[in-house]
Amino acid sequence: MKVTSAVFNTSSLDLAGCPEPVYPEFALIGRSNVGKSSLLNMITGKKGLAMVSETPGKTKLLNFFTINNKWRLVDLPGYGFAKVAKGEVNRFNESVVEYLTHRGDNLICVLSLIDSRLPPQEIDLEFIDWMIDMGVPFVLVFTKTDKINAAKLEENLQVYKEALSEMCEDLPEILTCSSKTGAGHKDLLKFVQSALP
Ligand code: GTP
Ligand code: MG
Repeated sequence: MKVTSAVFNTSSLDLAGCPEPVYPEFALIGRSNVGKSSLLNMITGKKGLAMVSETPGKTKLLNFFTINNKWRLVDLPGYGFAKVAKGEVNRFNESVVEYLTHRGDNLICVLSLIDSRLPPQEIDLEFIDWMIDMGVPFVLVFTKTDKINAAKLEENLQVYKEALSEMCEDLPEILTCSSKTGAGHKDLLKFVQSALP
């Protein structure tokens, strides 16, 4: 599949503000700063389409983009970001939870982003566990692979698979990517193509 058009639709504060579910959706989720917005730009080949920032917590709304007039990418706020309101920890954003559990069949799959450089993080495992419990379909996408070498990446993936095997019987599909080098672009689009109804 080639991306021929990518258009920003709308930003929404909650489920009620989401656009009509007329296109199948793939949602990008993961810890703040893991590279969700960067990946959206990489997939679509449009650098400034989604806002990227070194400061965690940049994406605060649910952002919808229509690709090829056929399907949507949804850039979600990151989880695990503490700087929301005084004393309040935004572990899992309420609107994200609402979106993920109420969008129905229109949500084809969650692209759950994980920083490939780190050992399994409690907050990521907790979120994966939650998706399994809720029956939310997901694949894991390991990001920022340009920042580690191939051997270390393989080792980290192996450790991750072991952690996952204790949580579920069938391992989820695993993809890797770098928004900096464009690695993984083809496989991501191949996955989307195969998952589209
Ligand atoms: P929030 O919106 O705050 O939740 O963050 P996000 O997950 O959307 O992350 P974002 O795309 O804004 O990227 C965070 C930082 O990581 C930025 O400084 C990016 O330039 C950097 N970054 C993202 N992806 C990659 C990558 O593949 N390689 C490298 N080297 N840096 C990356
Ligand atoms: Mg973002």
